[in-house]
Amino acid sequence: MFRPISATAIGLALALPVSAQQTSDIVVPEPETGVTQAFQGISDAAVAALEAKSEGRVVEAETWMVAAAHPLAVDAGARVLRDGGTAADAMVAVQAVLGLVEPQSSGMGGGAFLVWYDAATGEITTLDGRETAPLAANPRLFQDENGEPLTFMDAVVSGRSVGTPGTPRLMEDAHRRWGRSNWGGLFAEAITLAEDGFTVSTRLAESIASAAESLAVFSATAEYFLPDGAPLEAGATLVNADYADTLRQIAARGVSAFYTGEIAADIVAATRTETLPGLLSMRDLERYEVIERPAVCQSYRGADVCGMGPPSSGAVAIAQILGKLENFDLGEMDPQGVETRRLMGDATRLAFADRGRYLADSDFVPVPVAGLIDRDYLAARADLLRGDDALPEVSAGEPEWEHALLWGDDRTVERPATSHISIVDADGNVLSMTTTIESGFGSRIFTRGMLLNNELTDFSFRTHAGGHPIANRVEPGKRPRSSMSPTIVLRDGEPVLSIGSPGGATIIGYTAQAIIAHLDWGMDVQDAVSMPHLVNSFGTYQIEAGTWAEDLVEPLQDLGFQTNVTALTSGLHAISLGDGLRGGADPRREGIAIGE
Ligand code: GLY
Repeated sequence: MFRPISATAIGLALALPVSAQQTSDIVVPEPETGVTQAFQGISDAAVAALEAKSEGRVVEAETWMVAAAHPLAVDAGARVLRDGGTAADAMVAVQAVLGLVEPQSSGMGGGAFLVWYDAATGEITTLDGRETAPLAANPRLFQDENGEPLTFMDAVVSGRSVGTPGTPRLMEDAHRRWGRSNWGGLFAEAITLAEDGFTVSTRLAESIASAAESLAVFSATAEYFLPDGAPLEAGATLVNADYADTLRQIAARGVSAFYTGEIAADIVAATRTETLPGLLSMRDLERYEVIERPAVCQSYRGADVCGMGPPSSGAVAIAQILGKLENFDLGEMDPQGVETRRLMGDATRLAFADRGRYLADSDFVPVPVAGLIDRDYLAARADLLRGDDALPEVSAGEPEWEHALLWGDDRTVERPATSHISIVDADGNVLSMTTTIESGFGSRIFTRGMLLNNELTDFSFRTHAGGHPIANRVEPGKRPRSSMSPTIVLRDGEPVLSIGSPGGATIIGYTAQAIIAHLDWGMDVQDAVSMPHLVNSFGTYQIEAGTWAEDLVEPLQDLGFQTNVTALTSGLHAISLGDGLRGGADPRREGIAIGE
C-alpha cells in the first residue's frame, strides 16, 4: 500500500520560523548537516520559498515558475518571467547567476542539455550544448606512454580534461529561438552581483573546503577560492570582477566575444598546464556548435516521458527503466517495500549494462536508440526481473539494429556535480536544462572569472574492452557520454512535469525515482524530490544514509544485493503542471522554486 511520505516525516527538513517580510540575511537550517546557511539580498518570494522547503511544502503558482539551485539565481529568473520574459530568457539570467554563486557546479566554462516544450506548436525540442573534444585529441588522450589509463584525479586536475565549452552558445541559441527579452539585459543581475559581491553560501564554503587541496594547484584558482591560503568561509562577501567583465562582453557582443578573441585566447592559454597540458585551440572554440537532436520519448502509464538522447545516456536509460517497470504494477506496491526496490534496482542495473556497451556520441558511433527503447525488447529484459532475488549477473542485451560491430563494455562514471533548472513561463513554454562543469570545480582551472570544465574525463580512458572498441572512447570533435537527464513529461500532448537533477551517474536513478513517485505513487513534486534515494547502477545498492531507506539494507542483502549506506546528494528540481503550477526543490541542496 502507498504510504504518503513528506520531507518532514523522513527527517530531511527542519522547520524554522522565518518572517516572510524579511528581504535579506535569511538564515535557514541546512538539512544535511544542521549548519546554517546565509543568503543575503534575496527577495520576499525567495524567503517564503526557503521557508516552504524547510517545512516540506510544495510551492504553488498560476502563471509562471522557476526552480534552480540557488535563491539568487532563482530570483534573477523570476524577475525576467515577471517582466514578461520567456523561459528561455529566464534560463539565461539563471545560468549567468549560477556561474557566479554556484561556480563549482556549472557555468560559462561548461556544457548543458536543454529540453524545450513549445506552447505554440506543442513540439519538444532537445538541444545539445555538450563540451567537445579538441580536434587534436586522439583515443589515447588519457593514457600514459604504455597505454595504461591515467589516474582519474590526475586527469581531472589538468588542462587535458577541458573540452570546448558549450553553455554560452546554448544560452544564445535558446534565446535566439525562443527569447523575447533584450539579450544584454539578461546579464545585468549577474554583473551587479559579481561587481558588488555576493555572500558565500554554506554549500559553496563546504565544497571549497573539501576540494581545497586541488584548488591550490593553479594559482588563479587558489587566489579566488583560497584567499590568503585559507578556504573562503560561509558568509564571506565574494567579488568577481573578471566574471563581470566576461559577462559584459557577452552581453554587449553576443557569445562570439567568448568563442573568439581575447577571452578565447585566455581559455586556450589556461589549458596549457605544466602537467598534462590541454589540446584545445582557438579553432575548437570558434567552430563550436549547438546540435539539435531528436528527443527520446517513452510512453509510461499513459504519459510520454521525453528527454535528451545521445551523447547523453539519460533519456535512453530512464526510458529503459520505466519501460521495464511498466510490466509491473508499481502503483499498487509500497514505495518502501523490498520487492519494489528489487525491481527498481535491477531494472536500473540492466539499463546501465546497455548504457555501458551502446551509449556514446551518435555522430561518431551508431547507437541503437530505437532498439534499446523498443517495447518488446524491454518486455524481454523485464522478464529477467520475474524471479525473487537480486540478479546474480547483469549484462548488456541485444537490441535490434542493423549494425554489425560489437562494442566493448565501458563503466566510465560521471561525477556528482552539475545543476538543474526547470522553468515554465506565462505562455506555457516549459524548459528543462541540466548544466555542468563535470566534477565539483571542474578542471580547477580558473580564468576570466570562471572555472573550466573537466568534461572530457566522461570519456572512457580505455579504447578497448574484451577485444572490442569502446563506443565512448575519445575521438577528435566527439562529445563525451553523459548521464544528464533533463526531462519533460507530457500527457495527451500537454506538459505535466519538468524535472532533472545533478549527481553524475546517479542522476538517472534520482530522476527515474522522482518520476515514478509522481506518476505511480501520486506524490506531489516536493515529496517526490525529497524522497530518500536507493540507487543501483552497477551492482552495489547505494542507500541514502539517515533515512528510512536504511531499513531496507538487511532485506536487500537477504535477496543477494550488496549494499552501501552513503550520502546521496541529488539536487532535483521539478515543476508539475495541470491544476496550476507546483514546484519542488531538493532539500539536500540550496535551491528553491518561485512562481506567481
Ligand atoms: N558530467 C556529468 C554528466 O554529464 O553526467
